[in-house]
This record gives sequence, structure tokens and C-alpha cells, in this order.
Amino acid sequence: MSDAPKFHDRMLSLGLARVSEAAALASARLIGRGDEKAADQAAVDAMRTQLNQLDIQGVVVIGEGERDEAPMLYIGEEVGSGTGPEVDIALDPLEGTTLTAKDMPNALAVIAMGPRGSMLHAPDTYMDKLAIGPGFRTGVVTMDMSPGERVSALAAAKGCSTEDITVCVLERPRHETMIAELRTTGAAIRLITDGDVAGVIHCAEPTTGIDMYMGTGGAPEGVLAAAALKCMGGQMFGKLVFRNDDEKGRAKKAGITNFDRVYTRDDMVTGDVIFAATGVTDGSILPGIKREPGMLTAETILMRSKTGSMRRMTYRNPT
Ligand code: FBP
Repeated sequence: MSDAPKFHDRMLSLGLARVSEAAALASARLIGRGDEKAADQAAVDAMRTQLNQLDIQGVVVIGEGERDEAPMLYIGEEVGSGTGPEVDIALDPLEGTTLTAKDMPNALAVIAMGPRGSMLHAPDTYMDKLAIGPGFRTGVVTMDMSPGERVSALAAAKGCSTEDITVCVLERPRHETMIAELRTTGAAIRLITDGDVAGVIHCAEPTTGIDMYMGTGGAPEGVLAAAALKCMGGQMFGKLVFRNDDEKGRAKKAGITNFDRVYTRDDMVTGDVIFAATGVTDGSILPGIKREPGMLTAETILMRSKTGSMRRMTYRNPT
């Protein structure tokens, strides 16, 4: 048995906020400059440097890709000072690289941390996702239901008309049939061009007006979204989607044997988790980085699943 100290999420969470903050601040000068790669690289470098200052024995389980594809923050990379609790880390230094390059809403720097072995090692494939906010009985909506049935079931549970439901969906050709079916229910659809971690978080934040998220996006982003919802409350389901044998091979390498499994939020994140997100561009959950002469301002949300607490932190840094 390891004699590493236990995962004390209370103090570690404050350090985690600095990590997402550093990534967001580093990408700030690249907002709206049309260069996704440079923005992502700046965020990755800063996140890694800051992460390595935390007293943890961390392993990246959701990262920038596999070792041969990503020089930094790759899956399996050991991060942290090497002393402290053994933890799993899921991260996306820049969730919404295109959003950042085009200065469009809801780009975030995100990171989640939990005890070792507590997060699904999702391969870099797609995941079919379904999420709703807190306050509903378990299984009020399921992956087995059609999109229209989900809207009807949620409206019945909320005691409202289907026309009062708003669904968030990534705007992609692969979602055309789903969107057409949703339209027949009269529900409103908030189409987003990127950033489905924010899309899922929207369901648990009443001010966004979004009731449900559905559709296919990145599997790694699915685990990050599950970590956020575990802190905020709400239900989430995810099923891996494979386009070819290579992707199935990636899943096998990550230890996945049942390709048809529907993961719940708590299957994706099994233990206590802490989650931090810093706004890069202005969005419905967080304002983006503000650049004023001589001053940078960043806003971060920091959440703990153990307590369900959420802290909003504003950081101002003279430059
Ligand atoms: P990046 O930040 O890596 O560009 O990802 C943005 C994103 O929109 C995710 O939020 C989403 O899960 C995924 O891309 C969807 O993938 P695709 O663009 O292939 O449909």
C-alpha cells in the first residue's frame, strides 16, 4: 500500500484554480488572432508549468493526446512536484481553440483532479453525451430515449410545455437528424459552434436558460464535463462512438473492453473531484480575460464535489 498522503481536496483546490488561471492568462494575447495552435500552445505551456508547482504525484489521464502525438501534458505524463497525494488529472488547457482564435464565446481553460484511479481513461474518440441539471429523479431522461422523447420527459418532470425547454447542441452536420427531431417538439435549440464542456455545464447553471445538452463531441471533454457536473449536481450519460478500428484500438489501450457501455456521470468520475475553469473569452458562465492597459483580469470558478461548493475568484495582475 502506498504511504502517500491522502487527497485533501480543500487546500489543493486553491492551487488548482491557479493552474486554470495561468493557462487562460497565457492564451489571452492570442484571443482573436486567428491562430488556434499558438493559443493552445501558450495555454499548454503555462498550465504545465503551474501544475508542476503543486505538491502532488499527478498523472494526466485526460490530456493533450497520446505520448507520440503530444509533447506536453500527454496521457500518462507525471505532473506535480512528486511529493504529496497520488492523483488523476483531467485537463484541457484551452477548451475551444477555435473559439479563442475567433474571439467567440465560452472558451475556457479547465482542469479536474481526483484521487488516483477515480477517472475514466477516455480515449481520444467521440462520445455521445446527454446531460441535465440537478433536481430531477435519476433516469428521467436516458440514452435509450429518442431526442424528442427526452424533451417530452424533461418537460413533464419540470411541469412545463416542451416549448419551454431549451436544448444545447453542437452545430455539426452529424446532428442534423437530431436537430430536425428536436424541432418537431417545439423546444428551443441553442446551437454552439464549439466547447461542449461549457455546453454541459450550462445545464446546471440556471442563468444560462439551458435545460439539456445532447449530441456527440470529444470523449475527453465528456470526462471533464462529468467532473464539473459531479460538483454542481445534475445527471450525465456518455457512450463512446468509434469511427474505425484505430479508434477501437485506442479504447482497448485505455483499458476499455465494453464498447457499448453507457457511462453515467459517476462511472466517469468515481471519487471526490475538484474542478476549476477560467474564462478565456466572454461566455455565459464566466467572463473572459480582460486586457486593459497595465492590467489583466481573469475570473475562475472552483468547485468541489464533496461539498457541492462553488467559489468564484477574480484575479487582477498588473502587467
Ligand atoms: P478544441 O478546443 O480541441 O478545438 O475542441 C473543441 C470542441 O468543440 C469540444 O468542445 C468538442 O467536444 C469537440 O471539439 C467536438 O469535436 P469536433 O469539432 O470534431 O466535432
